[in-house]
Amino acid sequence: METEVIAIAMDLLHGPVEGTGNITSGGTESILLAVKACRDEAAARGIDAIGANLVLPRTAHLAFDKAAHYLGLEIRRVDVDGDYLADPAAVADAMDERTLLIMGSAPCFPYGLVDPIPALGELALERNVWLHVDACVGGYLNPFAEREGVELPAWDFRVEGVRSISADLHKYGYAAKGASTVLHRSPEQHVHQSFSADDWPAGAMTTPTVAGTRPGGPLASAWAVLHYLGVDGYRERTRRILSARRQIFDGLPAFGLRVYGDPRLALLAFGPEEGDDLNIYAVWKSMHDRGWFSGVVANPSGIHMMLSPSHEEVAGDYLRDLGEAVAAARQGDASGLHPPVRYG
Ligand SMILES: Cc1ncc(COP(=O)(O)O)c(C=O)c1O
Repeated sequence: METEVIAIAMDLLHGPVEGTGNITSGGTESILLAVKACRDEAAARGIDAIGANLVLPRTAHLAFDKAAHYLGLEIRRVDVDGDYLADPAAVADAMDERTLLIMGSAPCFPYGLVDPIPALGELALERNVWLHVDACVGGYLNPFAEREGVELPAWDFRVEGVRSISADLHKYGYAAKGASTVLHRSPEQHVHQSFSADDWPAGAMTTPTVAGTRPGGPLASAWAVLHYLGVDGYRERTRRILSARRQIFDGLPAFGLRVYGDPRLALLAFGPEEGDDLNIYAVWKSMHDRGWFSGVVANPSGIHMMLSPSHEEVAGDYLRDLGEAVAAARQGDASGLHPPVRYG
């Protein structure tokens, strides 16, 4: 089953025929394993990998910090550009001879934007470092959005410098929680993802993922859902997500709200126009009280949305409530309201 799911993923993400990978428990494990493979591949080339660094755009998921913490690596975060995208020049400036890995998101969680993977790929090849694409959110959505006419920069194995990709089955693959994929361009690099030991009485053990005995439930769910939905099912769900996104986009300007950057998929963040002192967190609180549960972002302050197919039917209701929440926040006393979560 795992081999079949990985083959489907490789096909969707334009991987080479020899490309390989594993099912993991989630995006965090997929990222951890890609970083571990990168570190151990460097060590196998005689590089002192302990304390080496990863250079990340500020929008990279904190799973990279977790991976670095577990693996004894240093994280260097650099600012994104004016469009909230990874800035390859800033990444290049932060790199040194101890840099092992750079990354781009497809898309990033905070703003839903696809980083300029082709430019990051060129940088990775030029400096001979590993480029990981975090497509945890987009891995099983972007291929179908592209089939629906959404234009994205090349973001997968089509970009030569991309060595590994994380893509979550339990997000837009619609599988039960506990299923992601980590994909490698070649078996030669994949082998460094494994852990091997033999110094005990029961013989050698080699495991490719963090678990020893791996749970089969999420894998079976992922396999079944992939077959149940098929390309047509994924395309139909993607069309509904894109319709919800369009409705939200079109409705925001009437309330003096703007979307941050140019998100074309299922994630987006929005807030007031520059210079408008609307307390967007008061709007968030008011929407929360009405039963709309979403996240927030900071720098700039905003409301964060992760759209599902079923949001197509409620986007109109959401906008109606949002209009009322914005009007109330503009009139009311919002003092004492703070961002419910702080990033950065
Ligand atoms: C872009 C991105 N990468 C990685 C992760 C981590 O995935 P998980 O929560 O499955 O470990 C997430 C989770 O939302 C994400 O949005």
